[in-house]
Amino acid sequence: MNIDILSVFPEMFVGPFDHSIVRRAQDNDLATVSVHNLRRFSNDRRGIVDDYQFGGGPGMVMKPDPIFEGVETILMDLSQIEMAKTRVILTSPQGNMLTQELVVEFAQQLHLIIICGHYEGVDERVRENLITDDISIGDYVLTGGEIAAMVITDSVVRLLPGAIGSQQNLLGDSISSGLLQHPIYTRPAQFRDMNVPSVLASGHHENIKVWRRRKALERTLERRRDLLDIQNLSSEDRDYLESLGYNLNR
Ligand code: ADE
Repeated sequence: MNIDILSVFPEMFVGPFDHSIVRRAQDNDLATVSVHNLRRFSNDRRGIVDDYQFGGGPGMVMKPDPIFEGVETILMDLSQIEMAKTRVILTSPQGNMLTQELVVEFAQQLHLIIICGHYEGVDERVRENLITDDISIGDYVLTGGEIAAMVITDSVVRLLPGAIGSQQNLLGDSISSGLLQHPIYTRPAQFRDMNVPSVLASGHHENIKVWRRRKALERTLERRRDLLDIQNLSSEDRDYLESLGYNLNR
């Protein structure tokens, strides 16, 4: 997969993509991440990419021309096949919320182009005529879209086949499985006066499996009831939750 990022602060990406899974994915040719300075695509000598808002109002607006120029320059080099599997993403607090479902969809593309929004916002013509996805990473406002672009890249790259040691790891992910992850522990079995639940050290695989499933159910119901698809739970799952006093019909 190729990921092209257009940003007015390309230097922000120097550290984050040089480590861990994203670095390894690049070293192993699973992904190529290229960061472009948006100012390069400005037709202004000084590299200006923002301007005042028509109609008046505070703050600057990102001009459409450098963004169109940048995206079109990248698209120009793509084959028809690649083009059909390309998403052009704008990061903005007004966008659709990034979910694991969307991340999976992005990971199935051949090419992602991510435009990092800034200032008061982006000229609406970009939204109307250039992008395929307007994405927010949460209901809070960042100083710019760079961190959001890093979040999208990181969450997508780790799903590429071979990026993570074992694909099995991905299956148990919180969210991916539709449930939050069960609690996990490592050695020492006793730390100060805190003990690892004895079932986990019992070696009894069936009991461990049941314990993990139950804990994942409890945790999801307590913290993220919105994620629970009651219809998709087994009758054992439902019986267990009801035994804890949860009314699943509410
Ligand atoms: N830019 C500013 N805030 C943002 C957010 N929450 N998500 C994506 N891009 C942003």
